[in-house]
Amino acid sequence: MPKKTKHKTEYLCSSCGHVSLRWFGKCPSCGKWDSLEEQVHETPAAHRSAILTGPDNPVQLSTVDTESSESRIPLEVEELDRVLGGGLVPGGLVLLGGEPGIGKSTLLLQILMRLSRRGMKVLYVSGEESLSQIRMRAERLGTCPEGLWSMCECSLEKIQATVKELKPGFLAVDSIQTMSAPGISSAPGSVVQVRESTAIIMQVVKTMAIPTVIVGHVTKDGAIAGPRVLEHLVDTVLYFEGDRSHSFRLLRTVKNRYGPSFEIGVFEMTGKGLRQVTNPSRLFMGDHSNPVAGAVTVPCLEGTRPIMVEIQALVTPSNMAMPRRTTTGIDSNRLAMLSAVAQRQLGIHLQEYDIFVNVAGGLKIAEPAADLGIIAAVVSSVQEQPVPETMAMFGEISLTGELRAVGRSELRLREASRLGFSSCVLPKSGSSALNVPEGMELHSSPDIVHAMRCAGLLGV
Ligand SMILES: Nc1ncnc2c1ncn2[C@@H]1O[C@H](COP(=O)(O)OP(=O)(O)OP(=O)(O)O)[C@@H](O)[C@H]1O
Ligand SMILES: [Mg+2]
Repeated sequence: MPKKTKHKTEYLCSSCGHVSLRWFGKCPSCGKWDSLEEQVHETPAAHRSAILTGPDNPVQLSTVDTESSESRIPLEVEELDRVLGGGLVPGGLVLLGGEPGIGKSTLLLQILMRLSRRGMKVLYVSGEESLSQIRMRAERLGTCPEGLWSMCECSLEKIQATVKELKPGFLAVDSIQTMSAPGISSAPGSVVQVRESTAIIMQVVKTMAIPTVIVGHVTKDGAIAGPRVLEHLVDTVLYFEGDRSHSFRLLRTVKNRYGPSFEIGVFEMTGKGLRQVTNPSRLFMGDHSNPVAGAVTVPCLEGTRPIMVEIQALVTPSNMAMPRRTTTGIDSNRLAMLSAVAQRQLGIHLQEYDIFVNVAGGLKIAEPAADLGIIAAVVSSVQEQPVPETMAMFGEISLTGELRAVGRSELRLREASRLGFSSCVLPKSGSSALNVPEGMELHSSPDIVHAMRCAGLLGV
């Protein structure tokens, strides 16, 4: 008697991809609440052929031909090529994530138009917009070139067939949440659909060596929708972000198998689409005619690129039992720690004040090199004493109040000097060996007390 196929019910975590046979309120793997979704396991994993095929026996790596993987396709847009690590890689699968309306489709269409103008046959698959809507956007971005093929389709079976027939040089899928894979009955956008759809696209484009970008929506808490396995599957994860109140957008490399991570590209959203900003420091700096208390400029590093960023602090007397520590662009725990260090080392009674810290231009800073700038902005605000406007500051602060050296100090100094800063307070350790730009005065400080004196924030 033939064996009856049994449909097995599994529960999959939409956050980490953990599979369990029972439903739990809290994912046993990542600890997230209410993230387990029921799925009927209709397609055994064995139905999928291996994504990559190669010789059956192992070969010596030194004998493997690398020609095809080296031939990157530069987009000739400096900001884009930087985040991609030099250009598109044949067969490379890029996931482009971002909030609704941030400009993902615009960016993608601009890339497609650029490539098709260079004579490449490109295919734009949209599951979200009609052909006339895409055409309207293309017209807004410039004249619609020949060689730009477009289709509105959600079925991956049809997309797969079209790609095999058309053999495009570049493929864009907007968005993965609208696609449905054959044989899967779950709704588009569900964890299973997203994962299977990505696997199918990957199989096609890897075998045909087509560079591909797929768009992925983000969830409320900012993660790319779908399980983490999606990010593991693709070669590169780019994240398009920006502040709605500002016109500039940041394209950030979260993961890259073919280039450095944590690079950023800066763009400005205009009526004619996204325009690259090659000199972004001015965007994140203040524009004061006179120095103001509570504002300090820090040379930060985003990937390999230095950016001058203004950190602003406002310290006001508090009438609350638990004074507020509110931040935008930096971690509030970091501010709490730095306030405690300032309180102990500088003898300022910050427990009586509410502290608000903001990074100008909506940038998010995670590196500890901004510590000194944050503390200086807070002290400057509480003392109502501005830091000289031509002075920049950077350095990590330890719990004992010492300044610790940070990476790439020379690069930071060069950027500060280029933008007209003539002095800089920085950690003493390692500063004697630095190649200092001409006209830049260094204040090498061993600890925050010395650094605050150099900035004129404490009596000498
Ligand atoms: N004429 C215009 N002038 C300036 N900016 C515009 C104009 N038209 C559209 N935009 C900008 O483009 C954005 C929409 O871009 P796009 O549709 O590419 O976003 P998206 O990330 O693909 O959105 P979704 O997630 O809905 O697909 C708008 O939020 C707006 O900022
Ligand atoms: Mg879109």
